[in-house]
Amino acid sequence: MAGKRSKSSDRWLRRQQKDHFVRAAHAQGQVSRAHFKLVEIDQKYKLLAGNARILELGAAPGGWTNYLEGKLSNKGALIAVDPLPITAGVHTEVLVGLAGDEEVDKEIDRLAAELDGLTLVLSDMAPNISGIRAVDQARAMELADVARMAAAKWLVTGGHLAIKAFQGEGLDEWVAQTRQCFKKVVITKPKSSRTESREVFVVAKGFSGVRDAFNDLV
Ligand SMILES: C[S@@+](CC[C@H](N)C(=O)[O-])C[C@H]1O[C@@H](n2cnc3c(N)ncnc32)[C@H](O)[C@@H]1O
Repeated sequence: MAGKRSKSSDRWLRRQQKDHFVRAAHAQGQVSRAHFKLVEIDQKYKLLAGNARILELGAAPGGWTNYLEGKLSNKGALIAVDPLPITAGVHTEVLVGLAGDEEVDKEIDRLAAELDGLTLVLSDMAPNISGIRAVDQARAMELADVARMAAAKWLVTGGHLAIKAFQGEGLDEWVAQTRQCFKKVVITKPKSSRTESREVFVVAKGFSGVRDAFNDLV
């Protein structure tokens, strides 16, 4: 027997049905709405080349993965990481687990070495939401640190990092620190990101190559 839906889940359902980007995702056969955020960011900041060597953190269910696979030539490479199932093509290296965990990082390390380093680190990682704003923001900033450490370990000099983040405690300081090791760092809000959400993206272009810059900050 179907359970009774709560008022908030009814509200969520109505909003999803009205949402332009959710409808567009269905119409275009995209895995998720998240797809459009990356399309916008890529168009604006020119992150992707056909031969890019990419680490994608927080890849499930696979909206970004699908977009990235479509953009890569056979000279490019994609490593997609998530503990949840990712819909990915056969050429994508899927790692099941949490970025930042020793076993997963060892595997990324091996793959990145085979590729002579990575040209782009992307993170759409999001924490499980507790509903307590300060706790959720602290968790989101921890994930931002995980992504930045990954960039410092595996990006080639001149490589790029783009991450999802949330406006709030710690973000401005994080951006200021990141500016020390990247040529250009901006905070951007794609149109496809819900206006009422604190979600933003930080795009950092042109890694300096200083690998230990963030070691004391985590
Ligand atoms: C918003 S979803 C990603 C959506 C995805 N970009 C897409 O286009 O389909 C956030 C994901 O981050 C993942 N995640 C959270 N912490 C993570 C971690 N430490 N390592 C890898 N993935 C993580 C979650 O499991 C979740 O699937």
